[in-house]
Amino acid sequence: MQIDLKGRTALVTGSTQGIGAAIAAGLARAGVRVGVNGRNPERVERSVAELDQEVPGASWVPVPVDVTTQEGADRVAEMLPDVDILINNLGVFGAADPLEISDEEWRRYFEVNVLSAVRLTRLFLPGMTERGWGRVQYIASDSAIVTPAEMIHYGMSKTALLAVSRGFAKQAAGTGVTVNSVIAGPTHTGGVEDFVYELVDRGVPWDEAQRAFMREHRPQSLLQRLIEPEEIAHMVVYLSSDQASATTGGALRVDGGYVDSILP
Ligand SMILES: NC(=O)c1ccc[n+]([C@@H]2O[C@H](COP(=O)([O-])OP(=O)(O)OC[C@H]3O[C@@H](n4cnc5c(N)ncnc54)[C@H](OP(=O)(O)O)[C@@H]3O)[C@@H](O)[C@H]2O)c1
Repeated sequence: MQIDLKGRTALVTGSTQGIGAAIAAGLARAGVRVGVNGRNPERVERSVAELDQEVPGASWVPVPVDVTTQEGADRVAEMLPDVDILINNLGVFGAADPLEISDEEWRRYFEVNVLSAVRLTRLFLPGMTERGWGRVQYIASDSAIVTPAEMIHYGMSKTALLAVSRGFAKQAAGTGVTVNSVIAGPTHTGGVEDFVYELVDRGVPWDEAQRAFMREHRPQSLLQRLIEPEEIAHMVVYLSSDQASATTGGALRVDGGYVDSILP
């Protein structure tokens, strides 16, 4: 399958590292002009330089903006007025005792993980429907389906994204715009690598450490290794393609079989 998205523009929120950076690289390889986003201007510049080494000659737009406010969303719209592919990747996560999570923290998870994605969708969906082509995606998590006891606030935000995605897909019905969410499972990012080494002896080589981590702490994974960010990106690039034109309103799993369920 040849995925050619030349002439399209994407915004990938939270793309200076991890899954977002892999999605940015994957879309750029398919010919997309990609808005690389993070809060810190130097980090955004550094990421663009690294991405440019990875995908030489690609077209990048640095978007050093905190996208969790209306003001931030408006600034993004000034920098990238015509987004064809919106990837709502930004998401914060962290463990907390459910009885200790403050109202403020509950609101923060909703604001960052859900409302910022809703705002950007509200901003860019009308242009996509007018042009008769567009792709909106939300990066959800296995935690959207299996609520972790130690991350109820995170699980809540990811479950909400599935509803948001399904709802906006209905709003975009019949327009040529597709809206989907991607359910990512445990993925090999910097933060997760640190987390693995908190639980497994630091002296152990990475492959062995992640195997021990999966065996002892994530036994329900059928993959029995962490997912590489590129493996999430492949699904996102496919869903962004013309070839995926009949997939909308869906929640697609790239979770290594972690969620013990047939649907979704
Ligand atoms: N890692 C996993 O195992 C896993 C599993 C399932 C789902 N997911 C989901 O996948 C997505 C990406 O996760 P990740 O682990 O790759 O993330 P990550 O490594 O924590 O990266 C977060 C990115 O977001 C940027 N960012 C943070 N706050 C921002 C803000 N207010 N405005 C703009 N950019 C901001 C960060 O850059 P700055 O700090 O410079 O702003 C960075 O580029 C999240 O939605 C997460 O819930 C992850």
